[in-house]
Amino acid sequence: MTSTHNPGPVSGPSPAFPRYSRTAQALHWLTSLLVLAVLPLAWVATSLARDAAAKPVLFQFHKSVGLTILALVVARILWRTFNPPPPEVSEPAGLALIARVSHWLLYAVFLLMPVSGFLLSAFNGSTTQFFYLFPIPGFEKNEAIRNLFQSVHRAGQWAVYALVLLHIAGTAWHVAIRRDGVLDRMLPEQKPLIRG
Ligand code: HEM
Ligand code: HEM
Repeated sequence: MTSTHNPGPVSGPSPAFPRYSRTAQALHWLTSLLVLAVLPLAWVATSLARDAAAKPVLFQFHKSVGLTILALVVARILWRTFNPPPPEVSEPAGLALIARVSHWLLYAVFLLMPVSGFLLSAFNGSTTQFFYLFPIPGFEKNEAIRNLFQSVHRAGQWAVYALVLLHIAGTAWHVAIRRDGVLDRMLPEQKPLIRG
């Protein structure tokens, strides 16, 4: 039996269904993948013994992935400025506001984390080996400033955990309960399963 009651985006190409542009989607999912990498790299690197051979290597990868996230987030914000996203989905006003605020907080925190990380490393006098391709030199060591950015970076991780969890829970709610195609807005258009 063919479904007649599902006008949703997965039922076929629908020019009336607005999506994020391919570029916005690619930048979003690439950032998400790198976030999945940057956190475990930090957790393992900080947990290893001071003299463990892998520790500095994991830190170089943590810092390199973190700086890549910074570049992607800046690119996303610039892209968004010139290519506005699709109109917000209709939902109760309070929830729409939470979604909007949490998106801007995600951008803010994913700027704050790499910037504070870089400054904490740089004021430690450390060089970042960007994926061991080229060095990004640090500054003259300044312990007071390093400690300040270390506190910001350490505290900031809690904002990352809270916002990412809220974001994924919100997506799960849209997918499983509201079934309003919000995730499809962040995915490429699907080919219809049945033609003709
Ligand atoms: C999205 C970006 C980033 C995230 C989410 C992130 C997250 C984290 C987390 C969760 C920790 C463990 C903190 C702890 O010990 O409690 C950490 C530590 C650290 N991160 Fe990042 N980081 C990011 C980017 C960077 C960048 C770009 C750099 C440097 C270029 C950096 C340098 C460091 C350093 C040096 C530490 C050890 C700090 C310490 O002594 O506690 N991070 N980061
Ligand atoms: C697997 C995890 C993730 C899922 C399932 C997911 C899902 C989504 C979906 C469905 C949207 C579209 C919302 C809408 O149409 O209104 C969206 C937007 C967004 N996501 Fe994610 N996301 C994930 C990870 C992340 C991460 C790690 C970040 C952090 C950088 C992030 C940042 C954003 C932002 C800022 C927007 C709003 C885009 C804009 O309008 O400018 N997402 N996400």
